[in-house]
Amino acid sequence: MKNIKPYNTHEGKKQEVTKMFDNIAYRYDLLNGILSLGLHKYWRKTAISYLNNNPKKILDIATGTADFAISARKFSKAKIIGIDISKNMINIGKNKIKKLNLQNNIHLQIGDSENLKFNDNYFDATTVGFGVRNFENLEKGLKEIYRTLKKNGIVTILEPSNPEKFPLKQIFNIYFNYLLPFFGKIISKNNRAYKYLPESVNNFPKGKVFIKKLEKIGFKKCQHIKLSSGIVDLYVAIK
Ligand SMILES: C[S@@+](CC[C@H](N)C(=O)[O-])C[C@H]1O[C@@H](n2cnc3c(N)ncnc32)[C@H](O)[C@@H]1O
Repeated sequence: MKNIKPYNTHEGKKQEVTKMFDNIAYRYDLLNGILSLGLHKYWRKTAISYLNNNPKKILDIATGTADFAISARKFSKAKIIGIDISKNMINIGKNKIKKLNLQNNIHLQIGDSENLKFNDNYFDATTVGFGVRNFENLEKGLKEIYRTLKKNGIVTILEPSNPEKFPLKQIFNIYFNYLLPFFGKIISKNNRAYKYLPESVNNFPKGKVFIKKLEKIGFKKCQHIKLSSGIVDLYVAIK
């Protein structure tokens, strides 16, 4: 796995990722909607449907502007904590939560997925939407998810992927590698963010390789579910 970073400066991936999301935060939700053709809502909703252990406490890692956390709250009465390393993403999330009057149910805070400030065996469920690919140290981040989950706790992880079947594979390749970076750059005014997206996705371990990583950490009943004909991968695993 190559170390794909947004800017290729002397800084570490974590610093670069933080800067990038701080930079594009104000356009993130708009671009998410446009570039996923609105499908992102369905992907999160599907992931949440796998949290069938009646969770009381959910951690949403790499919560960004809190869409996964807000969506989780619609389908469960759990208390939800969202953490993210980008202050600007979190601030947009906080405003949304305030507008929805969900401040008593969802708490957002700055936090690093590779060094979670929570006790062992604390959460009933953990969600990560389009976040793990950005971790500087993937294994460390997955281990932290495992540590903070209760026994039989469930984790759901969403990641963009590459469809494998003709003709979607070919159409998607053109869209993802050329059109998306072009429109992403114009709308976000960030030259790198929407080039980093396909680069990091193309380089990320998928399917069986990712499942092996989960199993190595100790997760069981690991599942890989392809959503929207393989545009997005959903992983579900149990501690
Ligand atoms: C593509 S956004 C996803 C946001 C949200 N989960 C969603 O579904 O829209 C990825 C987020 O991961 C966050 N992130 C990346 N590395 C992180 C880390 N080590 N710890 C916490 N958050 C991180 C970024 O700041 C960014 O907000």
